[in-house]
Amino acid sequence: MSNSNGNSNQIPFLDLITPHVELEAELTGVFHKALRSAGFIGGPMVAEFEKAFAEFCQAKHAVGVSNGTDALRFALMACGVKAGDVVVTVPHTFIATTEAISQAGALPEFVDIDERTYNLDPEKLRQYCESQCSVDKSGRLISRRSGRPVTAVIPVHLYGQMAEMDAILEIAERYHLIVIEDSCQAHGAEYFSRKHNRWMKAGSMGRAAAFSFYPGKNLGACGEAGAVTTNDAEIAGTIKILRDHGQAAKYYHDMEGFNGRLDAVQAGLLHVKLRHLAEWNRQRQERAAAYKELFGSAEGIILPFEPQSSRAVYHLYVIRVADRQALRDHLEAAHIGTGIHYPIPLHLQKAYRGLGHREGDFPVTERCAAEILSLPMYPNLGRREQEHVTESVLRYLSSESKSLEGKTAGSAPSHAGVV
Ligand SMILES: Cc1ncc(COP(=O)(O)O)c(C=O)c1O
Repeated sequence: MSNSNGNSNQIPFLDLITPHVELEAELTGVFHKALRSAGFIGGPMVAEFEKAFAEFCQAKHAVGVSNGTDALRFALMACGVKAGDVVVTVPHTFIATTEAISQAGALPEFVDIDERTYNLDPEKLRQYCESQCSVDKSGRLISRRSGRPVTAVIPVHLYGQMAEMDAILEIAERYHLIVIEDSCQAHGAEYFSRKHNRWMKAGSMGRAAAFSFYPGKNLGACGEAGAVTTNDAEIAGTIKILRDHGQAAKYYHDMEGFNGRLDAVQAGLLHVKLRHLAEWNRQRQERAAAYKELFGSAEGIILPFEPQSSRAVYHLYVIRVADRQALRDHLEAAHIGTGIHYPIPLHLQKAYRGLGHREGDFPVTERCAAEILSLPMYPNLGRREQEHVTESVLRYLSSESKSLEGKTAGSAPSHAGVV
């Protein structure tokens, strides 16, 4: 078997080469245009991409920035999160979510995830607001843990699937929380809002949303890049100032800001790729459906769950098994690349020791983090490659269940047999 990277008998976890080879002429055209105009920072290439990306996300504004972490930080700051505030999010995400909270001067506090979708569990958010916070005289939600005001919540649309936004927005409204979507893994994902009675895109539902264009994302730059989307012109304006040293006009600084702009070349490259994003997402959805068909009703494995209200774009295809490392080793021996997103929950990371959490504080996250494994997923993943992946996983599962047969009852993994 040979894959699109030309390496025989290898199925990479991610193929970043093929789409760039296919679009090479158009992509290099962007470099030529930038070289000839010497327009490297700002200018029409950035503005045109921003307009097209806002349209794609069904948002009124998009502001290009230097990366997804800055997008989150600028969104928090522009939405009014202040030093000393608490921002609630999940412990099952990439550390950039909480880094941005800390960089905005706020403190992250966590609520656990939904075991089926791996996204923020609205019920746990409700419980957090009701039983771990109080409401002060001026109606502000105060965290009992830190004694600080809770002003915002960041649902992370993990793996390409949107969180349960209607319920989250309803709770946020009740407690005056700003909602900022971490859409860094969810370019083009959709959610059916019962409130609005229509499908809505990631980046169009919160006060603001952050996107990363890190190369491996569904829409990836050829370097670092990110964007904030919002329906609020004032927030968009503040982010434009924040990303550019706080200047509203050249050398007129309304505030101290950051060097957080989006390069013109990256904007041009992203604009070329954006034209293909809907098709690439559709291909990812087809690959996810193919995995589901090929796995059938296999026992001992949990496949991704997509609620009826969700159209996921499968940034990652994540399964769960009892002995994740053994399966990973088995797939590596079959030359199949895998990933783990993410092995250690944020509340147990060394970086967050100061928050004082212990094992057991967020049991769903901890259980999932120990069992998840990301299989190869990209738009040009071939049918034969998917067959090889699923056959290898199924072979592992049947050999594992045989080895368990000899053992006493009760020694099977807790969720064996759950599909
Ligand atoms: C969920 C999530 N949030 C934030 C980020 C940060 O984006 P960037 O790496 O572009 O700063 C990422 C990117 O990896 C991410 O996956």
